[in-house]
Amino acid sequence: MRYNVIKNADSIIDSSSYLIKNPENYKGKWNEVFNNNNPICLELGMGRGSFIIEMAKAHPNINYIGLEIDKSQTATAISNIRGQKLNNLKMICADARNIINYFGKEINTIYLTFSEPWPKKQDEKKRFSHESYLKLYDRIFKKDKHIILKTDNKILFASALENLSKYWYSFDKVSLDLHKDERKIENIMTDFEKQYFKEHRVIYYVDASFKN
Ligand SMILES: C[S@@+](CC[C@H](N)C(=O)[O-])C[C@H]1O[C@@H](n2cnc3c(N)ncnc32)[C@H](O)[C@@H]1O
Repeated sequence: MRYNVIKNADSIIDSSSYLIKNPENYKGKWNEVFNNNNPICLELGMGRGSFIIEMAKAHPNINYIGLEIDKSQTATAISNIRGQKLNNLKMICADARNIINYFGKEINTIYLTFSEPWPKKQDEKKRFSHESYLKLYDRIFKKDKHIILKTDNKILFASALENLSKYWYSFDKVSLDLHKDERKIENIMTDFEKQYFKEHRVIYYVDASFKN
């Protein structure tokens, strides 16, 4: 899928009430941002934002935060909200490596959706399901840990399952072909997923948790 460069990305981002500009100011205080104590779910690498926007629409009593490093993608995600009023949605344009600067122990679920597979051995630590990231997540989960991961990349999926099991996560649901799975797994498609669905690509899915 092509990444479009949005020339006025900065101004779209700066003028949006959905975008939290200094997320470090809200560390431990996201319930104040949303003005309620509802659960908070975080998507890392939201891209154009379809998934997080649709999740926010489908679950008004859950708060959603989409984080994305790329300004053009973030601006596109903001544009995709298209005048809808979603009180339970915020976005952050930042590097996921810095999440512990933005969140205290206040996140209920982390979504890792079609994250970069980083196929080279030397890049493995950049994967959002790498052990170094799992350690960061430990510092922002409220109590129980809960990760939902979707990918079309078998190697990434295998390494994610391995890392999650090393960290004692249980697998509540695993699917080796999400779109053909006969069980009722709630699934809102991401932008990448919509493309892969058209191409009949297999999508791997895991819903993993660790109860504290
Ligand atoms: C393959 S795209 C998937 C986008 C979206 N989740 C989807 O499924 O349509 C991966 C996204 O992760 C973002 N990303 C990569 N590394 C990141 C990082 N360190 N922090 C935040 N976002 C990152 C990329 O800019 C890109 O938009």
